[in-house]
Amino acid sequence: MTASTPLGLVPAPRDAVLAGDDAVLPAAFVARIDPELAGARAVLLDVLAVRLGCSVAVVTDDGGSAAVRLAHRPSMPEEDYRLTVDGAREPVVLIEAGGAAGARHALRTLQQLAGPAAFRTVPTGPVAGVPLPGVLVDDGPRFGHRAVLLDVARHFMPKDGVLRFIDLASAHKLNVLHLHLTDDQGWRMEVRAFPRLTQVGAWRTESQVGSSRSPLRDGTPHGGYYTQDDLREIVAYARSRGVVVVPEIDVPGHSQAAIAAYPHLAPHLPPQQVWTRWGLNPHALGVSDEVLAFFRTVLDEVMEIFDAPMICLGGDEVPTQEWATDPETVARAAQLGLDDVDELVPWFVAQLAEHLRAHGRRATVWDEVGGARVPTDVVVNSWRGYRGGIDALRDGHDVVVCPEHEVYLDHRAAAGLDEPAPVGTVHTVEDVYRFEPLTEQVAEAAAEPGAGAVLGAQAHVWTEQLDSGRRVDYAAYPRLTAFAEVVWSPLERRDWADFDHRLRGAHLARLDAAGVEYRPLDGPHPWQRRPAVPGWPLRFDELGRLVHAEDGAR
Ligand code: ACM
Repeated sequence: MTASTPLGLVPAPRDAVLAGDDAVLPAAFVARIDPELAGARAVLLDVLAVRLGCSVAVVTDDGGSAAVRLAHRPSMPEEDYRLTVDGAREPVVLIEAGGAAGARHALRTLQQLAGPAAFRTVPTGPVAGVPLPGVLVDDGPRFGHRAVLLDVARHFMPKDGVLRFIDLASAHKLNVLHLHLTDDQGWRMEVRAFPRLTQVGAWRTESQVGSSRSPLRDGTPHGGYYTQDDLREIVAYARSRGVVVVPEIDVPGHSQAAIAAYPHLAPHLPPQQVWTRWGLNPHALGVSDEVLAFFRTVLDEVMEIFDAPMICLGGDEVPTQEWATDPETVARAAQLGLDDVDELVPWFVAQLAEHLRAHGRRATVWDEVGGARVPTDVVVNSWRGYRGGIDALRDGHDVVVCPEHEVYLDHRAAAGLDEPAPVGTVHTVEDVYRFEPLTEQVAEAAAEPGAGAVLGAQAHVWTEQLDSGRRVDYAAYPRLTAFAEVVWSPLERRDWADFDHRLRGAHLARLDAAGVEYRPLDGPHPWQRRPAVPGWPLRFDELGRLVHAEDGAR
């Protein structure tokens, strides 16, 4: 292995060497796939037939010659692969993989070896074959759960944007899309049993412009939702690209859109509108049996559509002050034997987690409701730093590491005046690259007897400040590229200078070819700035507390 990663591969593979003869994959060829790897067929055809324009005959019998061969190796882990490109051999491209996932990853590596043209939608000229360097790549992921959250509730992203987001995630070897489908500002999933969730809950009259402290409003209605067929298409498309879609129905806070549609979900409140502001909402759902029954029905429809082993129930940032002054809610907590109304939050989430378990699914939750207060099969997303994850591991929960101060990609990408609507703390590309899910304390907690496991990590694209796919591109890339290397590549391969070299020398050209409007490394283009839009830039003080930044940003 050379010190630097050859050929600008991103994320860096476990091992890659230039070996054998350079090759040209002919314009028409046979690809022979073992039946166990048939799940890689869609990526094979997308890269080699659609984007590069080759005429590909896919066969699954085991005789005859083939320029591309996908061979199942049961001894290899499901996501591992070995890729050999050698112009002096037949097949020219040999992919050996433990499963379809590994074969897809190999094809994503091949896509990068074929050059930026392999990231365009179709060939731009006559197809004369695909030149490839002779190479031997031996690869597999560091973490099994390599996730990105996309918030389609704060700003709706039309379906084609979600499919494109999935394609890009898959090209970076990410394998989970956490789809944040519901929040105070919008409900985005059609539910047959409760049509008002989208008739009413998917639309708001206007949006706040800038941070939650901004006085500005746009005076423009916003909304949208996915039909059940749209969601089935998203799930199937993602599956064909090796990405599992984990849906989130966020309860019992972050629920004002549902309450606006069905006021009986919060009988302690006057009627509400879909929220038009950002920030911490003061309202939560009611906690009656009727409300639980409503959400069990919602989850039944979620489980019909989404095949993910996990479903996120939220549980974050639940305000309990209104519960504390509502006699019925106080009585409910007492009748359940709970210490106070705060304990209704994990209780409520645990009721729904039980419903998911009865149907063979696992709940995931934000770390406010982790720990000993929910059943141990519930997965905890550690977003408020590492502490919640560490406690949850000790309590036996599996954990996804996703700390706000490290991997919230809506947070500003640089200090200073130029970032569009700068919110949160600074996360540069290098900061994200230096994020380490397995801190010493996390690793220690995970090693204790009876502890849960660290499944992996998740980066977040919240969209209060990202009102279009163009702004999502800006926030996500290239920081999501850096995150992808963190979760895929072995720790000993982590080398910022090498990554920076590959990013500048090879990977940005791939993103350009794919039409990604990423943040330029030296700052936004003039049209990517939003000088009139107030942000809320924060920084950590010497004691690690969040304070308003005084770095010249607005
Ligand atoms: C979160 O950022 N409220 C999970």
